[in-house]
Amino acid sequence: MSENLHRIGYISCSQLKSLCKDQQDKINESLSALVLNSKTKNSKNGVTGALLYNGDHFVQVLEGDKSYLEALYQKILVDSRHQDVRLLFKYPVKTRAFNAWAMELVHAPKPLPVSLSYLLKDQKPTASNAFADNTVALLKELLVDQRKIG
Ligand SMILES: Cc1cc2nc3c(=O)[nH]c(=O)nc-3n(C[C@H](O)[C@H](O)[C@H](O)COP(=O)(O)O)c2cc1C
Repeated sequence: MSENLHRIGYISCSQLKSLCKDQQDKINESLSALVLNSKTKNSKNGVTGALLYNGDHFVQVLEGDKSYLEALYQKILVDSRHQDVRLLFKYPVKTRAFNAWAMELVHAPKPLPVSLSYLLKDQKPTASNAFADNTVALLKELLVDQRKIG
């Protein structure tokens, strides 16, 4: 099947705390609902990826058909559960990095691990594969540590 496979990544500021009035159980509930809905939709639509959440920020990497991803990103951009969504990278790929995961939640410490804190800098969207590959590798490392699967 010919698929125009692309990968995009963005960082955003979570609004879950204020939307949930700082109540941790509500935040957890909203987060679980977000991840569950995303997983269901993503697996139906051939999208794979990971979503990092550290209480303040989301970092998400999505892989899938280019036009589907572009439409999804437009929805994500206007989702009130976060703001200041900043595209980090968008580029074509031959293979998926997250092929086992329709949307896996990565819990990360706050502040972001030093290895990911470079994402907070005012980085322009880039097609630089080194930068993107680095981010993908770090997310995968955190996922594997978290899940103890390789
Ligand atoms: C941080 C964050 C990550 C999201 N990730 C996904 C995702 O991976 N897949 C998805 O379908 N929706 C995701 N969403 C939800 C979309 O913004 C949007 O609400 C949803 O796709 C709307 O689906 P609908 O058009 O079927 O109602 C995410 C939202 C947020 C705030």
